[in-house]
Amino acid sequence: MRVLVTGGAGYIGSVVTEELVNGGHEATVYDSLYKGHREAVVPGAEFVQGDLLDGELLRRTLAERGIEAVIHMAADSLVGESVQNPAKYYRNNVTAGLALLDAMRDSGVTRLVFSSTAAVYGEPEKQPIEETDPNAPTNTYGETKLAFERALRWYEQAHGIHYASLRYFNAAGATRLCGEWHDPESHLIPIILQAATGRRTHVEVYGDDYPTRDGTCVRDYIHVVDLARAHVLALGILHERSAVYNLGCGGDGYTVNDVINVAREVTGRDIQVRVGARRAGDPAVLVASSSKIKRELGWEPEFQDLRKIVSSAWDWLQAHPNGYGDGK
Ligand SMILES: NC(=O)c1ccc[n+]([C@@H]2O[C@H](COP(=O)([O-])OP(=O)(O)OC[C@H]3O[C@@H](n4cnc5c(N)ncnc54)[C@H](O)[C@@H]3O)[C@@H](O)[C@H]2O)c1
Repeated sequence: MRVLVTGGAGYIGSVVTEELVNGGHEATVYDSLYKGHREAVVPGAEFVQGDLLDGELLRRTLAERGIEAVIHMAADSLVGESVQNPAKYYRNNVTAGLALLDAMRDSGVTRLVFSSTAAVYGEPEKQPIEETDPNAPTNTYGETKLAFERALRWYEQAHGIHYASLRYFNAAGATRLCGEWHDPESHLIPIILQAATGRRTHVEVYGDDYPTRDGTCVRDYIHVVDLARAHVLALGILHERSAVYNLGCGGDGYTVNDVINVAREVTGRDIQVRVGARRAGDPAVLVASSSKIKRELGWEPEFQDLRKIVSSAWDWLQAHPNGYGDGK
């Protein structure tokens, strides 16, 4: 298929694009590079530098490249910032997303895969979380992702745009070419590995008095390659229907201390830890049920082992000690 990947110069988008190219699809990355990296656009993909709000450029790109489906990953995704600055999140995650949907409607493109998030569930009443559980976001980031998901329902009804909304839990790991390099970094595994390389002095653990095995929070980590493969599978349903799927590794999840200990083993480095206060709104446990996507699309994670996830991130970091070449 000819696929447009918005945000394809970002962390997950670069790996999704790599999977598309490896699978023989024609991928065009559409990214403003406001956060992503030119170097993260994988060989074999076309690149258009532009903002989602530039409807004209989007329409031209969809038409000139004969795009058949869009994977929409471009967004802002810092939870704390979203609470401080809701306008930024409504503008980029909702208004700019609607500009993309309008361009698709005008160009007759009716297939969309959307990067949603576990944050749409807020603080869930039960674990593992299923797609039918209530949506109750506790921050603006989750709220804006949910708002866009809801818009999708109405665009489908009015304009026949089918969608697959993929609610990711914690994406982690790397390929040989593509890894995670955010500034600021808010994700646990790259933070731990930065502490292993000395780029930061220590890892701050937010609370060790939760009702979990070792008192630290339990989260679900999914290897970014397994996540990327789910996008390619999801493209396959969009000629006839829409769906919402959770994407995590399932199982019992891992505590923050588990992740730190595995990183110590993988890197062979001493990693300093300081225990701080709990953060408001951090649930003790967040684990996905991914049975629906397994059942309906035959998705099977290949790299669900935490050691493989951390090792792949460490290998990439060692090959790219300063991240991508643009210094961002
Ligand atoms: N990383 C995770 O664990 C995680 C978990 C749940 C959901 N998500 C979602 O997955 C998606 C990708 O996450 P990521 O970690 O790869 O993020 P990222 O910041 O690495 O990538 C986002 C990319 O989108 C681009 N972008 C942002 N706004 C744009 C705009 N208006 N126009 C054009 N380009 C724009 C940025 O330049 C960047 O390259 C996001 O939608 C995020 O909300 C990520």
